[in-house]
Amino acid sequence: MTQRSACFVALTGLLVMPAVAHAAPAQPWDWLLTPLSGASEHHIAGRMVWHARLMVLGWGTLLPLGALAARFFKIVPGQDWPQQLDHKAWWHAHRVLQYAGVLAMTAGLVLAWGLGNRHGIAAQVHAWLGWSLCLAGWIQVAGGLLRGGKGGPTDDQLRGDHYDMTRRRIGFERLHKSLGWLAIALAVMTIALGLIAADAPRWMAVVLALWWSAFVAVFVWLQRQGRCIDTYQAIWGPSAMHPGNRQPVVGWGVRRYTAAAWRARFGPP
Ligand code: HEM
Ligand code: HEM
Repeated sequence: MTQRSACFVALTGLLVMPAVAHAAPAQPWDWLLTPLSGASEHHIAGRMVWHARLMVLGWGTLLPLGALAARFFKIVPGQDWPQQLDHKAWWHAHRVLQYAGVLAMTAGLVLAWGLGNRHGIAAQVHAWLGWSLCLAGWIQVAGGLLRGGKGGPTDDQLRGDHYDMTRRRIGFERLHKSLGWLAIALAVMTIALGLIAADAPRWMAVVLALWWSAFVAVFVWLQRQGRCIDTYQAIWGPSAMHPGNRQPVVGWGVRRYTAAAWRARFGPP
């Protein structure tokens, strides 16, 4: 370091120090309780607080957990697949979590409607993305309800959209899986922008960042274990006599197994 730059550092240090000393939080948690902007006070309307809570409950918790259940728990740990087929735990979990999530989202939207002032880019992008996500949530429910019939050897009739993997079923799987995960990824951004628009306390951003990191870590771990199995196989087994097993799988990272390969990976030792 030259003499001039050393002088500059020392001088700026002296100038900044009193300000830092003045602003220094009395306790470590004061930093976490301070709003994101660093402002000393934080006001937010009661209705907006409930908007944020309900949206974090819906898009931040229930909907991502329901998608995780649908992706990785078509066969549950300990299930003797393919002797035991069509374990419905994922199906019940997915519907309960997704309906509850969309309900929380809709209530959250009603609370925010017309309350914002669109001041600043964060608020504008948040509102725009927020409306798109609400639309996506309702489309996902509509898609789920319109996915067609099931069919298969254990149903009343063999023919069915899912068993035959008709164009309707393939279209549903393509749209529902890609729109669902895209929406969840956008929800991370939308929630972050909501926190900025509301100038929320820092601890909320810290907790959410930790939560999303844990979610991604669990997703990657389950994916690498090979737990994302084709729904069709989970329901009817791996035999090539079933028409859907002769068609390509729908979606990224979805796997198919023979009975022996599954047992070698997940079966009892
Ligand atoms: C009536 C409501 C719903 C029904 C009946 C339903 C049904 C289904 C079905 C049958 C699957 C399995 C598709 C397959 O693997 O072949 C699935 C997967 C999925 N659902 Fe839903 N769903 C509903 C609501 C939602 C909502 C609101 C979301 C919002 C995010 C969502 C996100 C997903 C995602 C991301 C997957 C793919 C998981 C993977 O990667 O395998 N679903 N859903
Ligand atoms: C993915 C979750 C969320 C969605 C889908 C969402 C959706 C929306 C929508 C659609 C609006 C505009 C309402 C209108 O047109 O009047 C809005 C406004 C707002 N939201 Fe959210 N929201 C979410 C999460 C949050 C969170 C976590 C916070 C705060 C911590 C928040 C704070 C706000 C604020 C402050 C406004 C008003 C913005 C303005 O001034 O215009 N939101 N939200």
